Amino acid sequence: MYQKLWQNRLNRKVEYPLVEDFNASIGFDKRLAEEDITGSLAYARALQKAGVITGMELKKLVKSLNQIKANIKKGKLNLNGSEDIHTAIEMALTRKLGNTGRKIHTGRSRNEQVALDERLYLKKNIKGISKDLIALQKAILKRAEKHVGVVMPGYTHLQQAQPVLFSYYLMALFFMLQRDKERLVDCLKRVDICPLGSGALAGTTYNIDRRQLARELGFKKISENALDATSDRDFIVEFIGTSSILMMHLSRICEDLIIWSSREFGFVVLADALTTSSSLMPQKKNPDLLELIRGKSGRVFGHLLGLLSMLKSLPVGYNKDMQEDKLPLFDTVDTLSASLKIFTLVFKTMTIKPQKMQATINDHILATDLVDYLVQKGVPFRESHGAVGQIVRYTLDYDKNLIGLSLSELKQFNPKFQKDVYQVFNIKKSINAHNLPGGTSEAMVRKQIKTGKKYLSTH
Ligand code: ARG
Repeated sequence: MYQKLWQNRLNRKVEYPLVEDFNASIGFDKRLAEEDITGSLAYARALQKAGVITGMELKKLVKSLNQIKANIKKGKLNLNGSEDIHTAIEMALTRKLGNTGRKIHTGRSRNEQVALDERLYLKKNIKGISKDLIALQKAILKRAEKHVGVVMPGYTHLQQAQPVLFSYYLMALFFMLQRDKERLVDCLKRVDICPLGSGALAGTTYNIDRRQLARELGFKKISENALDATSDRDFIVEFIGTSSILMMHLSRICEDLIIWSSREFGFVVLADALTTSSSLMPQKKNPDLLELIRGKSGRVFGHLLGLLSMLKSLPVGYNKDMQEDKLPLFDTVDTLSASLKIFTLVFKTMTIKPQKMQATINDHILATDLVDYLVQKGVPFRESHGAVGQIVRYTLDYDKNLIGLSLSELKQFNPKFQKDVYQVFNIKKSINAHNLPGGTSEAMVRKQIKTGKKYLSTH
Protein backbone atom coordinates (compact mmCIF):
# COMPACT_ATOMS: atom_id res chain seq x y z
CA MET A 1 0.00 0.00 0.00
CA TYR A 2 1.12 3.57 -0.39
CA GLN A 3 3.19 5.36 2.21
CA LYS A 4 1.67 7.91 4.50
CA LEU A 5 3.09 10.85 6.38
CA TRP A 6 0.89 10.02 9.35
CA GLN A 7 1.20 6.23 9.61
CA ASN A 8 2.46 6.01 13.22
CA ARG A 9 -0.71 7.27 14.78
CA LEU A 10 -2.89 4.43 13.58
CA ASN A 11 -2.74 0.70 13.88
CA ARG A 12 -3.36 0.02 10.22
CA LYS A 13 -2.11 -3.55 9.95
CA VAL A 14 -5.03 -4.40 7.80
CA GLU A 15 -5.31 -2.16 4.78
CA TYR A 16 -8.00 -2.23 2.19
CA PRO A 17 -6.96 -1.34 -1.35
CA LEU A 18 -10.35 0.23 -1.88
CA VAL A 19 -9.84 2.54 1.12
CA GLU A 20 -6.37 3.51 -0.02
CA ASP A 21 -7.59 4.36 -3.50
CA PHE A 22 -10.62 6.18 -2.22
CA ASN A 23 -8.55 8.37 0.09
CA ALA A 24 -5.78 9.16 -2.38
CA SER A 25 -5.63 12.20 -4.62
CA ILE A 26 -2.30 11.47 -6.32
CA GLY A 27 -4.12 10.28 -9.45
CA PHE A 28 -5.10 13.88 -10.16
CA ASP A 29 -3.14 16.21 -7.90
CA LYS A 30 0.13 15.12 -9.51
CA ARG A 31 -0.67 17.94 -11.88
CA LEU A 32 0.41 20.24 -9.07
CA ALA A 33 3.92 18.74 -8.81
CA GLU A 34 5.72 21.78 -10.15
CA GLU A 35 3.82 24.20 -7.92
CA ASP A 36 4.40 21.96 -4.91
CA ILE A 37 8.14 21.96 -5.51
CA THR A 38 8.20 25.72 -6.08
CA GLY A 39 6.49 26.10 -2.70
CA SER A 40 8.94 23.75 -0.98
CA LEU A 41 11.96 25.54 -2.44
CA ALA A 42 10.74 28.85 -1.02
CA TYR A 43 9.76 27.24 2.27
CA ALA A 44 13.21 25.63 2.64
CA ARG A 45 14.82 29.06 2.32
CA ALA A 46 12.43 30.45 4.92
CA LEU A 47 13.31 27.59 7.28
CA GLN A 48 16.98 28.39 6.91
CA LYS A 49 16.42 32.06 7.64
CA ALA A 50 14.36 31.07 10.64
CA GLY A 51 17.31 29.02 11.91
CA VAL A 52 15.49 25.68 11.61
CA ILE A 53 17.93 24.24 9.06
CA THR A 54 21.55 25.07 8.25
CA GLY A 55 22.86 26.64 5.04
CA MET A 56 24.32 23.26 4.12
CA GLU A 57 20.95 21.56 4.58
CA LEU A 58 19.25 24.23 2.51
CA LYS A 59 21.71 23.62 -0.30
CA LYS A 60 20.97 19.90 -0.26
CA LEU A 61 17.23 20.47 -0.18
CA VAL A 62 17.38 22.88 -3.10
CA LYS A 63 19.50 20.52 -5.16
CA SER A 64 17.30 17.50 -4.46
CA LEU A 65 14.06 19.37 -5.04
CA ASN A 66 15.34 20.51 -8.42
CA GLN A 67 16.40 16.96 -9.26
CA ILE A 68 12.97 15.68 -8.28
CA LYS A 69 11.38 18.33 -10.47
CA ALA A 70 13.51 17.30 -13.43
CA ASN A 71 12.77 13.62 -12.83
CA ILE A 72 9.05 14.23 -12.67
CA LYS A 73 9.24 16.17 -15.92
CA LYS A 74 11.10 13.35 -17.59
CA GLY A 75 8.59 10.87 -16.20
CA LYS A 76 11.38 9.15 -14.25
CA LEU A 77 9.79 9.43 -10.83
CA ASN A 78 6.81 7.24 -10.18
CA LEU A 79 4.46 9.28 -8.04
CA ASN A 80 1.64 6.80 -7.98
CA GLY A 81 2.63 5.01 -4.77
CA SER A 82 1.73 8.00 -2.57
CA GLU A 83 -1.37 9.41 -0.97
CA ASP A 84 -1.00 12.78 -2.64
CA ILE A 85 1.53 15.01 -4.40
CA HIS A 86 2.71 16.62 -1.15
CA THR A 87 3.46 13.20 0.34
CA ALA A 88 5.11 11.99 -2.85
CA ILE A 89 7.56 14.88 -2.96
CA GLU A 90 8.41 14.76 0.75
CA MET A 91 9.00 11.02 0.52
CA ALA A 92 11.22 11.44 -2.54
CA LEU A 93 13.20 14.08 -0.67
CA THR A 94 13.63 11.85 2.35
CA ARG A 95 14.74 8.93 0.19
CA LYS A 96 17.48 11.17 -1.19
CA LEU A 97 18.52 13.09 1.93
CA GLY A 98 17.41 11.12 5.00
CA ASN A 99 17.04 13.41 8.02
CA THR A 100 17.45 16.62 6.02
CA GLY A 101 14.47 15.60 3.94
CA ARG A 102 12.56 14.92 7.13
CA LYS A 103 12.93 18.60 8.10
CA ILE A 104 11.14 20.17 5.13
CA HIS A 105 7.71 19.89 6.69
CA THR A 106 8.71 21.65 9.95
CA GLY A 107 5.77 23.83 11.01
CA ARG A 108 4.05 23.24 7.70
CA SER A 109 0.80 21.49 6.87
CA ARG A 110 -0.55 19.94 3.72
CA ASN A 111 -3.57 22.15 4.29
CA GLU A 112 -1.58 25.24 3.42
CA GLN A 113 0.45 23.41 0.79
CA VAL A 114 -2.60 22.45 -1.20
CA ALA A 115 -4.00 25.99 -0.99
CA LEU A 116 -0.65 27.38 -2.10
CA ASP A 117 -0.31 24.94 -5.00
CA GLU A 118 -3.79 25.69 -6.25
CA ARG A 119 -3.17 29.43 -6.08
CA LEU A 120 0.12 29.13 -7.97
CA TYR A 121 -1.54 26.89 -10.53
CA LEU A 122 -4.45 29.28 -11.04
CA LYS A 123 -2.24 32.35 -11.29
CA LYS A 124 -0.34 30.72 -14.13
CA ASN A 125 -3.46 29.45 -15.86
CA ILE A 126 -5.51 32.64 -15.55
CA LYS A 127 -2.68 34.34 -17.38
CA GLY A 128 -2.72 31.63 -20.05
CA ILE A 129 -6.49 31.82 -20.45
CA SER A 130 -6.38 35.61 -20.66
CA LYS A 131 -3.88 35.26 -23.50
CA ASP A 132 -6.18 32.83 -25.30
CA LEU A 133 -9.05 35.25 -24.79
CA ILE A 134 -7.05 38.15 -26.18
CA ALA A 135 -6.13 36.06 -29.24
CA LEU A 136 -9.83 35.43 -29.84
CA GLN A 137 -10.67 39.10 -29.41
CA LYS A 138 -7.95 39.96 -31.92
CA ALA A 139 -9.35 37.50 -34.46
CA ILE A 140 -12.82 38.99 -34.01
CA LEU A 141 -11.55 42.56 -34.29
CA LYS A 142 -9.63 41.75 -37.46
CA ARG A 143 -12.79 40.35 -39.01
CA ALA A 144 -14.76 43.40 -37.90
CA GLU A 145 -12.27 45.68 -39.63
CA LYS A 146 -12.25 43.60 -42.77
CA HIS A 147 -16.01 43.37 -43.25
CA VAL A 148 -17.12 46.87 -42.26
CA GLY A 149 -19.32 47.30 -45.36
CA VAL A 150 -21.22 44.03 -44.94
CA VAL A 151 -24.89 44.33 -44.02
CA MET A 152 -26.97 41.70 -42.24
CA PRO A 153 -30.36 41.39 -40.60
CA GLY A 154 -30.12 42.05 -36.86
CA TYR A 155 -32.24 39.65 -34.79
CA THR A 156 -34.30 39.64 -31.64
CA HIS A 157 -36.27 36.48 -30.83
CA LEU A 158 -34.38 35.12 -33.87
CA GLN A 159 -36.80 37.19 -35.99
CA GLN A 160 -35.53 39.89 -38.30
CA ALA A 161 -35.56 43.13 -36.33
CA GLN A 162 -33.47 45.93 -37.82
CA PRO A 163 -30.60 45.96 -40.30
CA VAL A 164 -27.09 46.14 -38.84
CA LEU A 165 -23.52 45.89 -40.02
CA PHE A 166 -21.98 42.44 -39.69
CA SER A 167 -19.02 44.18 -38.01
CA TYR A 168 -21.44 45.61 -35.48
CA TYR A 169 -22.44 42.07 -34.54
CA LEU A 170 -18.77 41.13 -34.29
CA MET A 171 -18.04 44.07 -32.01
CA ALA A 172 -20.90 42.98 -29.76
CA LEU A 173 -18.98 39.72 -29.30
CA PHE A 174 -15.78 41.64 -28.69
CA PHE A 175 -17.29 43.64 -25.82
CA MET A 176 -18.92 40.56 -24.29
CA LEU A 177 -15.48 38.95 -24.15
CA GLN A 178 -13.96 42.15 -22.83
CA ARG A 179 -16.12 41.82 -19.71
CA ASP A 180 -14.94 38.24 -19.30
CA LYS A 181 -11.36 39.40 -19.46
CA GLU A 182 -12.01 42.06 -16.84
CA ARG A 183 -13.66 39.49 -14.59
CA LEU A 184 -10.60 37.24 -14.91
CA VAL A 185 -8.29 40.12 -14.01
CA ASP A 186 -10.47 40.91 -11.02
CA CYS A 187 -10.58 37.29 -9.90
CA LEU A 188 -6.80 37.18 -10.08
CA LYS A 189 -6.64 39.77 -7.28
CA ARG A 190 -8.13 37.26 -4.86
CA VAL A 191 -6.05 34.38 -6.19
CA ASP A 192 -2.86 36.36 -5.76
CA ILE A 193 -2.59 35.87 -1.99
CA CYS A 194 0.02 33.68 -0.32
CA PRO A 195 -1.25 31.28 2.37
CA LEU A 196 2.18 29.80 3.18
CA GLY A 197 3.07 30.12 6.87
CA SER A 198 -0.46 29.24 7.94
CA GLY A 199 0.27 25.79 9.37
CA ALA A 200 -2.74 23.50 9.59
CA LEU A 201 -5.11 26.24 10.80
CA ALA A 202 -3.52 28.24 13.61
CA GLY A 203 -0.45 29.78 12.01
CA THR A 204 3.08 28.68 12.84
CA THR A 205 5.42 28.95 15.84
CA TYR A 206 8.55 29.03 13.66
CA ASN A 207 9.99 32.38 12.72
CA ILE A 208 8.99 32.19 9.05
CA ASP A 209 9.19 35.51 7.18
CA ARG A 210 5.83 35.25 5.50
CA ARG A 211 6.16 38.48 3.54
CA GLN A 212 9.51 37.47 2.12
CA LEU A 213 8.07 34.05 1.24
CA ALA A 214 5.18 35.69 -0.61
CA ARG A 215 7.55 37.98 -2.49
CA GLU A 216 9.75 35.08 -3.50
CA LEU A 217 6.75 33.17 -4.80
CA GLY A 218 5.53 36.20 -6.74
CA PHE A 219 2.41 36.91 -4.66
CA LYS A 220 1.08 40.42 -4.11
CA LYS A 221 -0.15 39.83 -0.56
CA ILE A 222 -0.14 37.38 2.34
CA SER A 223 -3.33 35.94 3.80
CA GLU A 224 -4.60 37.70 6.92
CA ASN A 225 -5.83 34.73 8.93
CA ALA A 226 -4.50 31.18 8.83
CA LEU A 227 -7.83 29.54 9.59
CA ASP A 228 -9.42 31.37 6.67
CA ALA A 229 -6.40 30.77 4.43
CA THR A 230 -6.53 26.99 4.87
CA SER A 231 -10.30 26.73 4.59
CA ASP A 232 -10.86 29.19 1.71
CA ARG A 233 -11.69 27.93 -1.77
CA ASP A 234 -13.59 31.07 -2.83
CA PHE A 235 -10.90 31.85 -5.37
CA ILE A 236 -11.67 28.59 -7.19
CA VAL A 237 -15.43 29.18 -7.02
CA GLU A 238 -14.85 32.65 -8.42
CA PHE A 239 -12.65 31.35 -11.21
CA ILE A 240 -15.17 28.69 -12.21
CA GLY A 241 -17.97 31.26 -11.92
CA THR A 242 -16.10 33.63 -14.21
CA SER A 243 -15.36 30.71 -16.52
CA SER A 244 -19.04 29.75 -16.55
CA ILE A 245 -20.02 33.20 -17.78
CA LEU A 246 -17.33 33.01 -20.43
CA MET A 247 -18.46 29.55 -21.55
CA MET A 248 -22.07 30.77 -21.62
CA HIS A 249 -20.94 33.53 -23.98
CA LEU A 250 -19.06 31.11 -26.20
CA SER A 251 -22.05 28.82 -26.24
CA ARG A 252 -24.35 31.62 -27.41
CA ILE A 253 -21.93 32.57 -30.17
CA CYS A 254 -21.74 28.88 -31.16
CA GLU A 255 -25.50 28.85 -31.47
CA ASP A 256 -25.44 31.79 -33.89
CA LEU A 257 -22.68 30.28 -36.00
CA ILE A 258 -24.36 26.86 -36.07
CA ILE A 259 -27.59 28.42 -37.30
CA TRP A 260 -25.80 30.72 -39.72
CA SER A 261 -23.84 27.88 -41.26
CA SER A 262 -27.02 25.95 -42.07
CA ARG A 263 -28.17 25.88 -45.68
CA GLU A 264 -31.26 27.89 -44.74
CA PHE A 265 -29.14 30.80 -43.55
CA GLY A 266 -25.80 30.30 -45.29
CA PHE A 267 -24.31 33.48 -43.78
CA VAL A 268 -21.01 31.79 -42.97
CA VAL A 269 -19.13 28.77 -44.24
CA LEU A 270 -16.94 27.03 -41.70
CA ALA A 271 -13.53 25.79 -42.82
CA ASP A 272 -13.60 22.10 -43.77
CA ALA A 273 -10.80 21.44 -41.29
CA LEU A 274 -13.06 22.57 -38.46
CA THR A 275 -16.07 20.45 -39.37
CA THR A 276 -16.91 16.78 -39.72
CA SER A 277 -19.09 14.75 -42.04
CA SER A 278 -21.42 11.82 -41.62
CA SER A 279 -20.71 8.10 -41.69
CA LEU A 280 -23.96 7.61 -43.60
CA MET A 281 -24.96 10.83 -45.37
CA PRO A 282 -22.14 11.86 -47.68
CA GLN A 283 -23.40 15.40 -48.28
CA LYS A 284 -23.14 16.44 -44.64
CA LYS A 285 -20.89 19.11 -43.21
CA ASN A 286 -21.44 19.32 -39.50
CA PRO A 287 -20.30 22.05 -37.08
CA ASP A 288 -19.26 19.50 -34.43
CA LEU A 289 -16.63 21.63 -32.76
CA LEU A 290 -19.06 24.46 -32.14
CA GLU A 291 -21.59 21.96 -30.83
CA LEU A 292 -18.95 20.56 -28.51
CA ILE A 293 -18.12 23.98 -27.10
CA ARG A 294 -21.83 24.57 -26.57
CA GLY A 295 -22.04 21.19 -24.83
CA LYS A 296 -18.94 21.70 -22.73
CA SER A 297 -20.36 24.93 -21.33
CA GLY A 298 -22.82 22.72 -19.43
CA ARG A 299 -19.93 20.79 -17.94
CA VAL A 300 -18.33 23.94 -16.58
CA PHE A 301 -21.65 25.14 -15.08
CA GLY A 302 -21.87 21.72 -13.42
CA HIS A 303 -18.44 22.21 -11.88
CA LEU A 304 -19.57 25.51 -10.39
CA LEU A 305 -22.61 23.97 -8.76
CA GLY A 306 -20.64 20.91 -7.68
CA LEU A 307 -18.03 23.02 -5.96
CA LEU A 308 -20.55 25.26 -4.21
CA SER A 309 -22.48 22.22 -3.01
CA MET A 310 -19.29 20.58 -1.76
CA LEU A 311 -18.36 23.68 0.23
CA LYS A 312 -21.70 24.77 1.55
CA SER A 313 -21.88 22.71 4.74
CA LEU A 314 -18.23 22.53 5.67
CA PRO A 315 -17.24 23.70 9.14
CA VAL A 316 -14.70 26.51 8.89
CA GLY A 317 -11.24 24.96 8.61
CA TYR A 318 -9.79 22.33 6.30
CA ASN A 319 -12.01 19.33 5.59
CA LYS A 320 -11.14 16.45 3.33
CA ASP A 321 -14.19 17.20 1.19
CA MET A 322 -12.03 19.94 -0.25
CA GLN A 323 -9.85 17.40 -2.00
CA GLU A 324 -12.75 17.19 -4.45
CA ASP A 325 -12.05 20.73 -5.70
CA LYS A 326 -9.22 19.72 -7.98
CA LEU A 327 -10.90 17.77 -10.76
CA PRO A 328 -13.42 20.55 -11.49
CA LEU A 329 -10.63 23.11 -11.34
CA PHE A 330 -8.38 21.25 -13.77
CA ASP A 331 -11.23 20.37 -16.08
CA THR A 332 -12.43 23.98 -16.20
CA VAL A 333 -8.94 25.20 -17.10
CA ASP A 334 -8.58 22.53 -19.80
CA THR A 335 -12.04 23.11 -21.25
CA LEU A 336 -11.66 26.86 -21.31
CA SER A 337 -8.27 27.03 -22.91
CA ALA A 338 -9.13 24.44 -25.57
CA SER A 339 -12.50 26.06 -26.35
CA LEU A 340 -10.94 29.50 -26.72
CA LYS A 341 -8.22 28.20 -29.02
CA ILE A 342 -10.74 26.37 -31.21
CA PHE A 343 -12.92 29.46 -31.34
CA THR A 344 -10.03 31.61 -32.50
CA LEU A 345 -9.41 29.13 -35.31
CA VAL A 346 -13.09 29.27 -36.27
CA PHE A 347 -13.02 33.06 -36.54
CA LYS A 348 -9.75 33.08 -38.42
CA THR A 349 -10.84 30.57 -41.03
CA MET A 350 -14.56 30.97 -41.67
CA THR A 351 -15.84 32.48 -44.92
CA ILE A 352 -18.46 35.22 -44.85
CA LYS A 353 -21.27 35.33 -47.44
CA PRO A 354 -22.35 39.00 -47.71
CA GLN A 355 -24.77 38.38 -50.58
CA LYS A 356 -26.60 35.74 -48.59
CA MET A 357 -26.89 38.06 -45.61
CA GLN A 358 -28.18 40.86 -47.78
CA ALA A 359 -30.58 38.63 -49.72
CA THR A 360 -32.15 37.32 -46.51
CA ILE A 361 -33.25 40.78 -45.49
CA ASN A 362 -37.01 41.23 -45.84
CA ASP A 363 -38.23 44.78 -46.41
CA HIS A 364 -40.33 44.60 -43.25
CA ILE A 365 -37.02 45.11 -41.48
CA LEU A 366 -37.44 48.83 -42.32
CA ALA A 367 -40.82 49.15 -40.60
CA THR A 368 -39.26 51.00 -37.66
CA ASP A 369 -37.65 53.44 -40.10
CA LEU A 370 -41.08 54.06 -41.57
CA VAL A 371 -42.37 54.87 -38.08
CA ASP A 372 -39.48 57.32 -37.64
CA TYR A 373 -40.40 58.91 -40.98
CA LEU A 374 -43.92 59.70 -39.77
CA VAL A 375 -42.57 60.95 -36.44
CA GLN A 376 -40.41 63.40 -38.38
CA LYS A 377 -43.56 64.58 -40.17
CA GLY A 378 -45.06 65.42 -36.78
CA VAL A 379 -47.12 62.29 -36.12
CA PRO A 380 -46.94 61.13 -32.47
CA PHE A 381 -44.86 57.97 -32.13
CA ARG A 382 -47.65 55.66 -30.96
CA GLU A 383 -49.89 56.73 -33.80
CA SER A 384 -47.10 56.21 -36.36
CA HIS A 385 -46.32 52.82 -34.86
CA GLY A 386 -49.99 51.82 -35.19
CA ALA A 387 -50.20 52.99 -38.80
CA VAL A 388 -47.09 51.08 -39.82
CA GLY A 389 -48.35 47.99 -38.01
CA GLN A 390 -51.47 48.15 -40.17
CA ILE A 391 -49.37 48.69 -43.29
CA VAL A 392 -47.33 45.56 -42.52
CA ARG A 393 -50.52 43.56 -42.08
CA TYR A 394 -51.86 44.98 -45.34
CA THR A 395 -48.73 43.84 -47.24
CA LEU A 396 -49.14 40.35 -45.81
CA ASP A 397 -52.88 40.15 -46.50
CA TYR A 398 -52.48 41.29 -50.10
CA ASP A 399 -49.10 39.68 -50.69
CA LYS A 400 -47.33 42.94 -51.43
CA ASN A 401 -43.91 44.38 -50.73
CA LEU A 402 -43.53 47.34 -48.42
CA ILE A 403 -41.32 49.02 -50.99
CA GLY A 404 -43.88 48.37 -53.75
CA LEU A 405 -46.74 50.25 -52.09
CA SER A 406 -48.00 53.30 -53.97
CA LEU A 407 -48.26 56.67 -52.29
CA SER A 408 -52.05 56.54 -52.37
CA GLU A 409 -51.98 53.14 -50.65
CA LEU A 410 -49.72 54.56 -47.95
CA LYS A 411 -51.86 57.63 -47.53
CA GLN A 412 -54.82 55.42 -46.63
CA PHE A 413 -52.99 54.65 -43.40
CA ASN A 414 -51.75 58.16 -42.71
CA PRO A 415 -52.17 61.36 -44.75
CA LYS A 416 -48.69 62.57 -43.75
CA PHE A 417 -46.99 60.17 -46.17
CA GLN A 418 -45.37 62.03 -49.08
CA LYS A 419 -43.20 61.21 -52.07
CA ASP A 420 -40.00 61.42 -50.05
CA VAL A 421 -41.12 58.29 -48.14
CA TYR A 422 -39.36 56.16 -50.76
CA GLN A 423 -36.01 57.44 -49.50
CA VAL A 424 -36.68 55.46 -46.32
CA PHE A 425 -36.35 52.17 -48.16
CA ASN A 426 -32.60 52.09 -48.09
CA ILE A 427 -30.83 49.63 -45.84
CA LYS A 428 -27.49 51.44 -45.69
CA LYS A 429 -29.25 54.71 -44.94
CA SER A 430 -31.17 53.10 -42.12
CA ILE A 431 -27.97 51.65 -40.67
CA ASN A 432 -26.12 54.94 -40.87
CA ALA A 433 -28.99 56.81 -39.26
CA HIS A 434 -28.23 54.90 -36.03
CA ASN A 435 -25.37 57.22 -35.41
CA LEU A 436 -25.22 57.70 -31.66
CA PRO A 437 -22.44 56.11 -29.60
CA GLY A 438 -23.18 52.39 -29.40
CA GLY A 439 -25.17 52.40 -32.64
CA THR A 440 -24.68 50.40 -35.81
CA SER A 441 -23.76 53.24 -38.20
CA GLU A 442 -20.50 52.74 -40.02
CA ALA A 443 -18.94 55.68 -38.21
CA MET A 444 -19.93 54.29 -34.81
CA VAL A 445 -18.75 50.79 -35.67
CA ARG A 446 -15.39 52.24 -36.67
CA LYS A 447 -15.31 54.00 -33.30
CA GLN A 448 -16.08 50.72 -31.53
CA ILE A 449 -13.25 49.06 -33.41
CA LYS A 450 -10.94 51.85 -32.29
CA THR A 451 -12.05 51.43 -28.68
CA GLY A 452 -11.54 47.69 -29.00
CA LYS A 453 -7.99 48.23 -30.22
CA LYS A 454 -7.32 50.50 -27.26
CA TYR A 455 -8.57 47.80 -24.86
CA LEU A 456 -6.27 45.28 -26.50
CA SER A 457 -3.25 47.54 -26.30
CA THR A 458 -3.70 48.07 -22.55
CA HIS A 459 -3.48 44.34 -21.81
N1 ARG B 1 -4.79 15.75 -0.73
C1 ARG B 1 -5.32 16.74 0.14
C2 ARG B 1 -6.25 17.70 -0.60
O1 ARG B 1 -6.16 17.72 -1.76
C3 ARG B 1 -4.19 17.55 0.73
C4 ARG B 1 -4.49 18.10 2.08
C5 ARG B 1 -4.61 16.99 3.05
N2 ARG B 1 -4.74 17.45 4.38
C6 ARG B 1 -5.23 16.71 5.36
N3 ARG B 1 -5.29 17.20 6.52
N4 ARG B 1 -5.67 15.49 5.15
O2 ARG B 1 -7.06 18.39 -0.03
